[in-house]
Amino acid sequence: MIQEQRDAKGNTPFEPGPLEDWALSYVLSKSLDFKRSPPPSIKELGHMELPIDCRPVRPAELEVTSAKPKSVKQGALLSVKKRAEVVHKFWHHELQAAELMAWAFLRFPEAPDELRLGLIRIARDEIRHMGLYETHLQELGHKVGDFPVRDWFWERATTCETIVSFLAFIGMGLEGANLEHTERFGSWFRGIGDVRGAEIQDQIGREEVAHVRFATRWFKYYTGDVDFERWCNELPPPISPLLLRGKKLRYDLREKAEMPKPFLEKLEAWQPEAAHDPPPCSGS
Ligand SMILES: [Fe+2]
Ligand SMILES: [Fe+2]
Repeated sequence: MIQEQRDAKGNTPFEPGPLEDWALSYVLSKSLDFKRSPPPSIKELGHMELPIDCRPVRPAELEVTSAKPKSVKQGALLSVKKRAEVVHKFWHHELQAAELMAWAFLRFPEAPDELRLGLIRIARDEIRHMGLYETHLQELGHKVGDFPVRDWFWERATTCETIVSFLAFIGMGLEGANLEHTERFGSWFRGIGDVRGAEIQDQIGREEVAHVRFATRWFKYYTGDVDFERWCNELPPPISPLLLRGKKLRYDLREKAEMPKPFLEKLEAWQPEAAHDPPPCSGS
């Protein structure tokens, strides 16, 4: 799918391999089945010096909305339709996460191979998470496309100019907050008797720890530390730390993800000076 590209001198700095081809196809595919399918199990990269910037294409089954979501209360989940709507939103968060990993893989070709291969590995997890949510959605009598989706992560993440900014926002930020969101929704699902819904939250919460650790390690690799002020400065405006934490910080899981305690204490204590975007109710 990727066309050969030439620089001003007519050279070809771009010899895409199967992973580059997959990543671009994944972002641009109109096929829901392709979006559900994992990347190829390949560990070699093609030669790529030029960053590719692109936006996701939405399969016809998905209606995109710009309407901001209303916050959800536990009691609302007693309605099967409302619960399905929440599960659908989480499915779409996973889809955006997978697409964004593929996007970052193409957008930051100067990053070390180990990092870029890690992005593909995480995309594989996110696609598997989509499958967990889609199965549960079907158990609730609904299907993908029954509710509109808002590409909020995309709107913000693609303003990241550097891989450090991407890691700060998506990996340490949204995926970090998901450590808290999955615990809250797990207890809510369990509280209304939806055991399978709770188990999925538990599993995804556990698996996201590795994603947050991946981002934190690479942030440290680039910046030399895991410093709160530096992290804030890397967030794409108008994103603030308020959006990137749950109500009660999961120190245990975040420390497993190698976020230092001083960083977490500052994250927990941070207060906004002005209004910001409403937080999404779950990450990836
Ligand atoms: Fe993740
Ligand atoms: Fe995920």
